[in-house]
Amino acid sequence: MTFNLHILPGDGIGPEVMAEVEKLVKWLNAKTDIKIKTVQGLVGGASIDAYGKPLTAETLDACKKSDAVLLGAVGGPKWDKVDYAIRPEAGLLGLRKELDLFANLRPALVFDALIDASTLKPEIVRGLDILIVRELTGGVYFGEPRGIEDLGNGKRRGVNTQVYTTDEILRVGRVAFELARKRRNKVTSCEKANVMESGKLWREEITKLHAAEYADVELEHMYADNCAMQLLRRPSQFDVIVTDNLFGDILSDEAAMLTGSLGMLPSASLGVKGSTALYEPVHGSAPDIAGQGKANPLATILSFAMCLRYSFDRGDLAGMIESAVQKILDGGTRTPDIMAPGCKETSTAGMGDALISELDKSVALKGVA
Ligand code: IPM
Ligand code: MG
Repeated sequence: MTFNLHILPGDGIGPEVMAEVEKLVKWLNAKTDIKIKTVQGLVGGASIDAYGKPLTAETLDACKKSDAVLLGAVGGPKWDKVDYAIRPEAGLLGLRKELDLFANLRPALVFDALIDASTLKPEIVRGLDILIVRELTGGVYFGEPRGIEDLGNGKRRGVNTQVYTTDEILRVGRVAFELARKRRNKVTSCEKANVMESGKLWREEITKLHAAEYADVELEHMYADNCAMQLLRRPSQFDVIVTDNLFGDILSDEAAMLTGSLGMLPSASLGVKGSTALYEPVHGSAPDIAGQGKANPLATILSFAMCLRYSFDRGDLAGMIESAVQKILDGGTRTPDIMAPGCKETSTAGMGDALISELDKSVALKGVA
C-alpha cells in the first residue's frame, strides 16, 4: 500500500526542517515495507509570493486528495502588513477549516535528557506527559462578526466574536475523553465560565457528555487562567487538557516551554475518522534563525511520526523514530535551542543525519537478532 503525503514546507525555517523529513521518508521507503509518495506544495507567505494568496484552490484540492498533510510553518515579517484575509496565517487557518480539523492534539512530553533545558526545576518537570486537545475550527478565530470599523471620528473599533455550539463542544470533548482512556484517564476541561457565556455552555456540555458516555474518566473543570498558573505550579497534575481554540493556542505554548524547547513539540490536527489529517510542529516559522541551519527539525520529525501512527496506522514505525530521537538526545547531540554544557552542538541537517544513522543502527541490530 502506498500512502500519499502532501508536504507544505511554508515559510522561515519550514523548508529546512522539512528537508530532514524528506531524508527520513527516503530512508523509510528504502529500508522498510512502507511506501510513501510525497508531493510538495506552497502555503503561507511562499504561496502569497508565487500566487498572490496564502492557499490556492489547487493546493487545497491536492491536500484533500492526499492521505495526510505535513506542514512546516507559516508567516514572517515580510508579510506582516498585508490584510488578515490574505496573510500567511490565513492559509493555515483555511486548511484547518476546509479539512474540518476540529481536534488539535499537542502532546507536551519531557525527554529525560532535556530536563535541564526547561526553565523549571527538574523535580517539577521530570516525567511530564501532558496532552492538550485544542478545539481548532471554532471560537474567536472564526466567529462572526469580526473586523475593524471606522467610527467616523478618527477612532476605530475592533471586533472578534467567541462562539461555540453544542456539537462543536461535544465532538472535541469526545476526542479528549477517548484519548484519556488510553492514557491516565483524566480530563481537565478549561474555559472562562465565570465571565463568558460560551464558557458556561462549554462547561455544561462537557459535564453532560461526561455523565452520559464517559463517567469512568475522571473529569475536572478549571478556569483557563488558573490552568495557566497550575501548569507552572504543578504540571504533573494534568493528563489530558481539553480547551477552546484561543485558550488552547496559549496554553499549548506554555506547556511546550515546560519541556525545554518549542523546537521539540509535534502536533496532529484531526477531523472525523478517515478524513485527511494535518501534522505540524507547534513552533512557528522563526524568521530570526531561518536559513542558518540552526533550527531543530525534531518537532517536524515527531509530527511526521504522529502521521505514521494516526493516518498510516504504523505505530511501529512511529515508535521506532521516537526511540531513535530519544537515543540521539541521550547521546548528547543537540541543536542550539536545546544545547547544554557537555553536549555536542549540531545543525539542522546534522540532526537529520544523526537520526538516519541511529535508525540504521536499529535496523542492523534487528537484523542480527
Ligand atoms: C499555532 C499558531 C497559529 C495559531 C498561527 C500561526 C495562526 O500560533 O498553531 O498555535 O494561532 O493557531
Ligand atoms: Mg500558537
